[in-house]
Amino acid sequence: MKVLLAGGAGYIGSHTALALLNAGHDVIIVDNYCNSSPESVRRVEQLAGRPVELYEADVRDSSALLSILSGSRPDSVIHFAGLKAVGESVQVPLAYYRNNLDATLTLLECMGKTGVRNIVFSSSATVYGEDAPVPYVETMPRGRCSNPYGWTKSMIEQILEDAAVADSDLSVVLLRYFNPVGAHESGRIGEDPRGIPNNLMPYISQVAVGRRECLNIFGNDYPTPDGTCRRDFIHVMDLAEGHARALEYGAGRKGVEVFNLGTGTPYSVLEMLHAFEKACGFPLKHAFAERRAGDLPEFWADAGKAKRILGWQAKRSLDDMCRDAWNWQEQNPMGYQPS
Ligand code: NAD
Ligand code: WQD
Repeated sequence: MKVLLAGGAGYIGSHTALALLNAGHDVIIVDNYCNSSPESVRRVEQLAGRPVELYEADVRDSSALLSILSGSRPDSVIHFAGLKAVGESVQVPLAYYRNNLDATLTLLECMGKTGVRNIVFSSSATVYGEDAPVPYVETMPRGRCSNPYGWTKSMIEQILEDAAVADSDLSVVLLRYFNPVGAHESGRIGEDPRGIPNNLMPYISQVAVGRRECLNIFGNDYPTPDGTCRRDFIHVMDLAEGHARALEYGAGRKGVEVFNLGTGTPYSVLEMLHAFEKACGFPLKHAFAERRAGDLPEFWADAGKAKRILGWQAKRSLDDMCRDAWNWQEQNPMGYQPS
């Protein structure tokens, strides 16, 4: 299959590109590098031993996108292109709505004009909202999101559902990711956040490599077994392989289907820290700090539907996630920038 990855130079997109190339698919990437660089794609090509068709363009630029789609004629699109920093989305909500919604609308319009009928969308567990009981099951309704980023995901799901009602030939697969972490086993590609990391795993990795002094653990008085929050951390290569299954599934059908991509097992912030210390072989400086606004005590996936219907389940352990994150960070202390 020929697959266009919008936002494919980013963290999840680059790992998915590699999984798709390894599964024999052809990959086209469109990215404006607002949160990535072409170096990730160069490394994907090296690892796969095959080229990627790479375009630098904003997905909101309909004339650029139309010319790429009509020239390359992909069978399916995976839509990763979006801004994703929760805290930043509270500061600059309009930039988040503008980028994430416009990118989706332009993509759908251009797909319509060029006859591309299959789309897989990077959604998030955040759409279950603040009040959903755990574990999250796909049959639950979308809830009230706690930040503009989350609302963009919820709104995009609605847009895609409406588009599929209006166009009965459209196939939409909504993938709700839980907490993707880790890196490809080679350590050649991985997560490379700009500035101070917002997310737990890259922050821990940067403490380990000496780029940050101390991990602040946001809250140790939650109603959880050790008082710190619990999340469903999933290895990014498991997630990438889930996309390959979702693509094949979506290409053979019409209408909308939604899948959780998680492991079904939560680990706490302290458990993650200790697993990382085991992987890197030394203790990491940490301190307890105030709770972070908007954090939920714990959530994890009911991962049954993806297993039943896609035949996919995560197979990598927490130790694998930490080993691979450390391998990437140790080999690339400054990420894709030369150190
Ligand atoms: P990322 O920032 O590494 O990747 C997103 C990519 O999209 C980047 O390469 C960026 O340059 C590109 N992009 C953004 N806006 C664009 C535009 N208008 N035109 C072209 N390219 C554009 O993020 P990621 O972690 O790889 O996430 C990929 C997708 O998955 C995002 O939509 C994100 O919201 C979603 N998601 C991520 C997580 C997570 O924890 N990483 C969890 C749930 C959902
Ligand atoms: C995990 C836990 C923090 C950093 C976010 C988005 C979600 C999804 C995935 C996109 C929390 C704690 C963190 C630190 C800490 N993204 N933590 N010290 O918040 O579960 O999910 O990324 O869709 O929408 O909200 O992930 O990695 O930020 O936090 O103690 O320096 O780690 O408080 O309990 P989160 P996270």
